[in-house]
Amino acid sequence: MTRNLNLISHPLIQHKLTYMRSEETTTDNFRRLLREISQMLAYEVTRDLPTELVTIKTPLATTKSPAISGKKLCLVSILRAGNGMLDGMLDVLPAARVGHIGLYRDPETLEPVEYYFKVPEDISERLVIVVDPMLATGNSAIAALNRLKETGAGAIKYVCLLAAPEGLAALRAAHPDVSITTTAIDDYLNDHGYIIPGLGDAGDRMFGTK
Ligand code: URA
Repeated sequence: MTRNLNLISHPLIQHKLTYMRSEETTTDNFRRLLREISQMLAYEVTRDLPTELVTIKTPLATTKSPAISGKKLCLVSILRAGNGMLDGMLDVLPAARVGHIGLYRDPETLEPVEYYFKVPEDISERLVIVVDPMLATGNSAIAALNRLKETGAGAIKYVCLLAAPEGLAALRAAHPDVSITTTAIDDYLNDHGYIIPGLGDAGDRMFGTK
């Protein structure tokens, strides 16, 4: 891990990612694999949450035991592919609030255009975990983080499945305070903004829209 970049190379995650990449993987398996990986990413991204000792009674004794303290969580999904990561994250973090940011990529400029924005009112008091499987150009991620910061979000982490080196560099330059967690850094972006070798269009693959 270099500063603010957390590359998760756990064999279980890498195995599941291989089958997500394969063009032979069906929509239902793709969705299931993304959910399973997202559960593990939720575990990784919350690794440094603070805890405090609370007093509880077991059936046999009174004891002090650690419980998570500090800021409450807000997951923010960048639509639509981010929704594929939400279920797995919420399996592990069921009390988190959820925000949505709708951005589409203009196919010509590859620049993000916002069409939806809804986050909890108390977002400034929460640790925000932004999810989107594909960090490609980084434009959507940067726009989403700009918007969240304008709305008051302070503590933000970004979690994706795959990153292109170009997107990673752009996001880190624009938001050096935001830690990035990913399971792989691929080779490059092609002329259409797709990650190579990647896995194709994550939204189409998880929703079966192609
Ligand atoms: N979005 C995707 O779904 N796939 C890519 O390769 C790049 C952006």
